[in-house]
Amino acid sequence: MVKPKMLELKIAPSILSADFGNLNKDIASVEKYVDWIHVDVMDGHFVPNITIGAPVVRKIKTKLPIDVHLMIENPEKFIKDFVDAGANFITVHSEAVKNLPALVRKIKSYGVGAGVSIKPKTSVSAIKKVVKMVDLVLIMTVEPGFGGQSFMDMTKKISELRRMCSDLNISVDGGINDKTSKTVLAAGANILVAGSYIFGAKDRKKAIAKLFA
Ligand code: DX5
Ligand code: ZN
Repeated sequence: MVKPKMLELKIAPSILSADFGNLNKDIASVEKYVDWIHVDVMDGHFVPNITIGAPVVRKIKTKLPIDVHLMIENPEKFIKDFVDAGANFITVHSEAVKNLPALVRKIKSYGVGAGVSIKPKTSVSAIKKVVKMVDLVLIMTVEPGFGGQSFMDMTKKISELRRMCSDLNISVDGGINDKTSKTVLAAGANILVAGSYIFGAKDRKKAIAKLFA
């Protein structure tokens, strides 16, 4: 077995479950306890839901890196908008892109981190070509589109990726709570995206601490 290097464990709260009317207040409530702010962008085509675009990202006030998850068709058209709005990482879906290596190079050419995501039914082979190029891989553990769904077990994919690449950032998104977090961390993930679990908690600090403990 390939032993994972000491990759940093990170928590990235998804603001999809935050109060959009008080977004910066909700971000401030977790900022001290987390590492990145995860922003879900949906277009009503790639996924059956619409959320926010670059103008809202521009209004986010945080010292933390902004991790933008694009669940949109033709993501190549919007990369610069999100870079200009302050994104630090931009993740695209392999299912929405024809030439993944070219788009990964384009994202990196703007000086931001590049990520690639796969939906539950997409296998790791779809991203093999770019695994060594990207800054993170985002494994979806729900069908993308909505917060608050139940976790789907993708541990096989996570460990397959971890075996392929011991120093890759493997992020997991969908249905993450204090129980499922242990499952994905044990499989080799090192970044946890969590929305409803964090923003729905009475004590957010405590809820975040329980993701690791
Ligand atoms: C779903 C989004 C997720 C979502 C996760 O398509 O990509 O980031 O907000 O929400 P929870 O943690 O509630 O499953
Ligand atoms: Zn997401």
